[in-house]
Amino acid sequence: MTDRADRADGAGLLDDGERLDRAELEALQLERLRATLRHAYENVGFYRASFDAAGLKPDDCRTLADLARFPFTAKTDLRDHYPFGMFAVDQSRVRRIHASSGTTGRPTVVGYTERDIETWADVVARSIRAAGGRPGHKVHVAYGYGLFTGGLGAHYGAERLGCTVIPASGGMTARQVQLIQDFRPEIIMVTPSYMLTLLDEFERQGVDPRSTSLKVGIFGAEPWTEEMRREIEERFAIDAVDIYGLSEVMGPGVAQECVETKDGLHIWEDHFYPEVVDPFTGEVLPDGEQGELVFTSLTKEAMPVIRYRTRDLTRLLPGTARVFRRMEKVTGRSDDMVIVRGVNLFPTQIEEIVLRTPSLAPHFQLRLTREGRLDVLTVRAEARAEATPGQRAEAARAVAAAVKDGIGVSALVEVVDPETLERSVGKIRRIVDLRNR
Ligand code: DLL
Repeated sequence: MTDRADRADGAGLLDDGERLDRAELEALQLERLRATLRHAYENVGFYRASFDAAGLKPDDCRTLADLARFPFTAKTDLRDHYPFGMFAVDQSRVRRIHASSGTTGRPTVVGYTERDIETWADVVARSIRAAGGRPGHKVHVAYGYGLFTGGLGAHYGAERLGCTVIPASGGMTARQVQLIQDFRPEIIMVTPSYMLTLLDEFERQGVDPRSTSLKVGIFGAEPWTEEMRREIEERFAIDAVDIYGLSEVMGPGVAQECVETKDGLHIWEDHFYPEVVDPFTGEVLPDGEQGELVFTSLTKEAMPVIRYRTRDLTRLLPGTARVFRRMEKVTGRSDDMVIVRGVNLFPTQIEEIVLRTPSLAPHFQLRLTREGRLDVLTVRAEARAEATPGQRAEAARAVAAAVKDGIGVSALVEVVDPETLERSVGKIRRIVDLRNR
């Protein structure tokens, strides 16, 4: 784990943006917001049309609260302008393209100017530092490299901080373990589900995962729970912190948890302006209330986004370790919510239960099927290697009872043999929906 002295010097390492007070920050946000609205209106046909339809001009935004009068942008708007219709600069100024695959239809394409890539590197560097990373540390990046923003986003940020980057990317798990053994990185950046795949591989190779050089893991790109944090911290003897981001807004490094507090993620509000809205009415909710996170970029050139609806559910909280507001750990996306017999359920709720159950490994999958007109939820969870048949049966009963009592839905629970469920190499797919086959 990061030692105390190393944590305490964090304050001396803050960058200019992190040293603003709240009033200075808000003044900067307003200035940047007004410039972004003008830039979007003048250079992107979609924004011009949507502001015009709402009867608004960029200069109608005189206070931060005025932003609430402007229309939202949704993922479908990005898809409708595939591939480059949302870009606000000439294509010759676009240095990089990324895209998120999406489960259906066209990918969502995003672009970056040279300055956008600089900004991105800065916010990821700030994130790694908040996680306990320091210049000179070696950073093993096991987020995928490619159109996905995880690998290259982490990479540029780690270099910006002055770290040594090991660009492992995802996959080839046996080799990852070898590299960690030989290169001795202090930091790993990877999805939490792939970290569990690495854990299995350490054990398979007979290497104690607690004996590695790793001190900190920076985990994101998918929801994960406090129970998962405890599991990973305990099994690897590291600090596990959360990093959040999405390609439409930038990539990783939109928000980051500080290692000294681990109390939610500070949103880098000097670059990304957050709102939380009621997912049904779109009304802006006061800080502290749970709803859908919405972002407006404040400094992006190639592809500014205005009131982009993330579909991620969270709430805004006051800053602690930094002046910036925090977002609570994301419990799920509205898209990941499944409705089983009228009850709303997120995979993270099942994760909490499975990880609290002795005899179960942290690997599970949710299957949805239909019997007649009724939805059937089956939780498939792996037994730990040492679990006896009696303990497995007890675990199945305990999970079924916890799902019934805690979530309010009946589930079938199958405790399957170790190493039988599919392993993650990146973002894990928790739900197998067979209802409409
Ligand atoms: O996942 C960017 C990223 C890469 C973030 C590496 C962190 C680390 P997308 O592929 O566009 O971008 O997916 C974005 O992933 O809207 C959330 O639903 C989910 N997500 C990302 N980070 C977290 C997190 C990258 N820390 C979508 N907790 C987002 C929960 C997360 N969900």
